[in-house]
Amino acid sequence: MRVTAESQRELGNDGAIDAMIITIDGPAAAGKSTAARLLAARLGFRYLDTGAMYRAAALAAIREGIDWKDPAQLESLADRIRLEWQGERLLLDGEDVTDAIRSPDVTEVTRFVADSPKLREKMAELQREIGSTCNLVTEGRDQGSLVFPHAECKFFLSADPHERAKRRVADYAAQGKAMTWNEVLQAILDRDRADASRPVGALQCPPDAVVISTDGLTVDEVVAKLEAVVRERQAGLSQAGSD
Ligand code: DC
Repeated sequence: MRVTAESQRELGNDGAIDAMIITIDGPAAAGKSTAARLLAARLGFRYLDTGAMYRAAALAAIREGIDWKDPAQLESLADRIRLEWQGERLLLDGEDVTDAIRSPDVTEVTRFVADSPKLREKMAELQREIGSTCNLVTEGRDQGSLVFPHAECKFFLSADPHERAKRRVADYAAQGKAMTWNEVLQAILDRDRADASRPVGALQCPPDAVVISTDGLTVDEVVAKLEAVVRERQAGLSQAGSD
C-alpha cells in the first residue's frame, strides 16, 4: 500500500508505508540546506527548501513596497502570490527568483514576513501538498513540529553560533559579498532570538527528532549520519509492513 497524503498519515495509517517524509529542522546556518539536498540525492527523494518559500514571499513584499510589519497587508500578499517549484528552481508568479531571494535585504525582511499566521498557513498547505505526492526531504524550522507531525523520520541539526557565522561568511564570500564575521555572528544571534520567540512558527525541536550537532563534522559526515538513521527507519518500516 502506498500512503501518499498527509491526511492519511494523520489517520494513523502507519502500517506498510513506502512513501516517506523526512524533516530536517534547525537554526540558521546549521548546515541544513546542504545536508538535506545531499541526503535527498542519495535517497532519490525530492528535496524541499521551505526557507526559500518564505524568502520569495519577502521578495514579493519588497517589490510591492508593502509594509511587512502590517499583518493585513501580509495576509493579502499570501492570497495573491503564486509559488511553484521547477526542480530546485523557485518561481514567484512565473519568474525564477532562486538567486534573487538570497540577498541580505531579503534575508532581513523574511523573518517579519514569516510571522504572518495566514502566510504560514498557506506555505504549510503548499508544503503538505508537495509531501503528498512523493518521498520528501524537507528542511526548515517547523517541518517536523507543525507541518509534518507524522513524518517517518525527523532530524534537528544544531551548531555553535560561532561555527555557523563562519559558514555564513564563506557562503556570502562565494556570492561575492564581503561581510565580517562579527556582523554575521550578530545577525545570527539576533535571528536565533527572533526565531525562538516567534508567536507563530517558532523554531522548535520536535520531541521525537534525532538531534545532530554538526560542529566539527564535514558535510559528508553529517549526511552519512542522517542516511544511517533513515536506512534504519526504512528497514523498520518495511519490516512492520510485512508483518
Ligand atoms: O533557512 P533560511 O535562512 O532560508 O530561512 C529564511 C527565513 O525563513 C528565516 O527567517 C526563517 C524563516 N523560515 C520559517 O519561518 N519557516 C520555515 N519553515 C523556514 C524558514
